[in-house]
Amino acid sequence: MSLHIVILAAGQGTRMKSRLPKVLQPLGDRPLLTHVVETALALKPERVHVVYGHGGDVVQDRLGYLDVQWVEQAEQKGTGHAVQQAMPEIPDEAQVLVLYGDVPLTSIETLQYLVDEAAGRAVSLLTMTLDDPAGYGRIVRDDSAAIVGIVEQKDATPAQQAIREVNTGLLTCPAERLRHWLANLDNDNAQGEYYLTDVIAKAVHDDVPVVSVQVRDTWEAAGVNDKRQLATLERIFQQRQAEQLMMQGLTLKDPARFDLRGSLEFGKDVIIDVNVVLEGQVKLADGVHVGPNCVLRNCELGEDTQVLENSVIEHSRIGANCHIGPFARLRPDTVLADKARIGNFVETKKANIGPGSKINHLSYVGDAEVGRDVNIGAGVITCNYDGAYKHKTEIGDNVFVGSDVQLVAPVKVAEGATIGAGSTITKDVEAGQLAVSRARQISRDGWLRPSKVSKKNVDQE
Ligand code: UD1
Ligand code: CA
Repeated sequence: MSLHIVILAAGQGTRMKSRLPKVLQPLGDRPLLTHVVETALALKPERVHVVYGHGGDVVQDRLGYLDVQWVEQAEQKGTGHAVQQAMPEIPDEAQVLVLYGDVPLTSIETLQYLVDEAAGRAVSLLTMTLDDPAGYGRIVRDDSAAIVGIVEQKDATPAQQAIREVNTGLLTCPAERLRHWLANLDNDNAQGEYYLTDVIAKAVHDDVPVVSVQVRDTWEAAGVNDKRQLATLERIFQQRQAEQLMMQGLTLKDPARFDLRGSLEFGKDVIIDVNVVLEGQVKLADGVHVGPNCVLRNCELGEDTQVLENSVIEHSRIGANCHIGPFARLRPDTVLADKARIGNFVETKKANIGPGSKINHLSYVGDAEVGRDVNIGAGVITCNYDGAYKHKTEIGDNVFVGSDVQLVAPVKVAEGATIGAGSTITKDVEAGQLAVSRARQISRDGWLRPSKVSKKNVDQE
């Protein structure tokens, strides 16, 4: 028996009040639907079918690479009608699992359990018990506690509305039966829709066993309809991720103030302080410390490197024993060799900084090759842009660049050279030379500053 998974994703999600279709709203920086598809694929199904409607082009533009079958539901006539759109592609002997594109956090274990419980013969339903069941379909049971059907909130009698066990919407059915039941649905209900939930009563009528599995953690079945619910699930997602990372040995000063929006590889004794955001693919080697309020996006940090508070690093490769920040900004294609130091208010971009080199204060180094053991003083700027093109600055080993120097690219400063403070360097400097280009100082004795003539004196004249 093969497993076919149908993901319902045709809803508009008007309550999100967004230009994005609901299933593209980000959770941990990935679309809601991506989470559901990844969970679905982890169950190793024969096929995953995604029923799309509203914003279908945009969804397929963004997620077309996913290994799923796209099925259009042009008009949204209800959950039963939505599943029916996928049925022509599903063989009779299959087991069908229905998931929702806006319910992102169901665990693989729970779904596997739901699939196994039905064993391809029964219908299995994922249910949960809520203190406030408002809005959900209620699970109706008979005196022997056997499920007899699901009744939607809008169709429920007051007695049925008091039932606290609700339908999560996730269920499995044998395909052949499901095809038959769906073909016989009617829309004679309060919403004028073809309800998938009506297949339960049909199963009971046809003596097909209906079993239920209860989720304990209700977030597993929680859906996203508005930005509040999206934020709630984001916190749960982050908290669970943080717990897993801590179990793998990561030290988080406060897991409630840590966000990983992507993937993290880390070694031993890595410590992350509060309010750190990691995005994309981040790799932190043994002994890396990341101070408070840092953002690291797609980067790799070598052993024992320290990043101090309020630093931003993106698309960069950092060696071992480097010292970065506080308040440093490493922009894309920065490569720091071992023991390099980047201090406060320093910005780098497309820069190769050699081992042991230091740029400690208030500088911009872009489109640059910097050798080993170079000292770049405070306020040094590589003038890399002439208004049309970017040019390169090359600085050899052991160069000393004094404070407040502009290096007008393209320019080369060969090894061991010294650049005097306040210089504007427009010509190449040879190895071992001193280059100074500032104006000479003039000093005058007894200099009298101009002084203002007072108003009173002017009137008397
Ligand atoms: C549905 C269930 C209800 C359950 C609740 C759980 C039915 C009739 N009711 O109600 O028992 O408690 O989910 O959240 O199934 N969708 C389509 N095409 C459609 C209609 C819906 O793809 O024509 C998709 C939506 O995008 C959404 C999912 O199906 O992902 C559920 O639809 P929604 O309208 O939210 O169902 P509810 O009324 O909440
Ligand atoms: Ca819903």
